[in-house]
Amino acid sequence: MKITIVGAGAVGASCAEYVAIKNFASEVVLIDIKEDYAEGKAMDLMQTASLMGFDTKITGSTNDYSKTANSDVAVITSGIPRKPGMTREELIGINADIVKSVSSSLIEHSPNVTIIVVSNPMDTMTYLVHKTTGLPKNRIIGMGGALDSARFKYRLAEALGCPSSDVEGLVIGGHSDTGMVPLTRLATRNSVPVSRFLSKERISQVSEDTKVGGATLTKMLGTSAWYAPGAAVSSIVQAIACDQKKMFPCSVLLEGEYGLNDLCIGVPVILGKDGIEKIVELDLDEAEKAKLQESSKGVSNTNGLLDLKK
Ligand code: 2OP
Repeated sequence: MKITIVGAGAVGASCAEYVAIKNFASEVVLIDIKEDYAEGKAMDLMQTASLMGFDTKITGSTNDYSKTANSDVAVITSGIPRKPGMTREELIGINADIVKSVSSSLIEHSPNVTIIVVSNPMDTMTYLVHKTTGLPKNRIIGMGGALDSARFKYRLAEALGCPSSDVEGLVIGGHSDTGMVPLTRLATRNSVPVSRFLSKERISQVSEDTKVGGATLTKMLGTSAWYAPGAAVSSIVQAIACDQKKMFPCSVLLEGEYGLNDLCIGVPVILGKDGIEKIVELDLDEAEKAKLQESSKGVSNTNGLLDLKK
């Protein structure tokens, strides 16, 4: 199983580290435009192999996509991260050209690849990959909801005073500070609705803290987070690479599901060897449907900023 990770920055390198430690891939190729940067990160990671006990071979390349040939899965993390006070949407001007160029280079050498998009604004970048590559829609996946759901579970566990492993929670909608839809009604602590333990006010606070989870860390760190994004995308890579049939909220092209068309937005999907193997349509209540509709308007507006003629 060959995995390519484009962008050897903090998110890409963290993803490479988690993929290697999980030891399900034979090869990980890190690629970056910065001279020797990916090669250096790959070498540093390989020097942990005897300590961390993995056999995965990690190599780096300075922008030579022939080294990515015949990749099964490719993760696009390249582009600029946001600075404190920025929205993810403000990155579109620079990141759109990068994502378009990178995705065409990837499929030139790996025509059967499944692409996972992390670069922001992620829902729109995922849509851009659809519009510019022509890959089957089941093989283009945007990573946002898996990260947002992990942050949701963190906030729920914090409020409940319990381990995150006791908590289940799903975030759908756009991967944006205002567009996320944490499904608080469906969140549980060991199958028990969290409303049995938390007040409405506390649950609302959990939801609001989840939505700005990325911005909160960007303010603290001076740049976008990387550990949780890297871990989230490594879990999606593993679900595909190991044909796990796991369900994650991912940004996928909708063609009528949830009453939405011609956009990529976070909904629950089953992931396996064929990428998106099923889109799961939840029985949302009226309030949840309205929030998802509102979120889709925001994503469509950002999509409208793309110049698809270029
Ligand atoms: C985040 O929310 C980078 O969008 C990513 O941290």
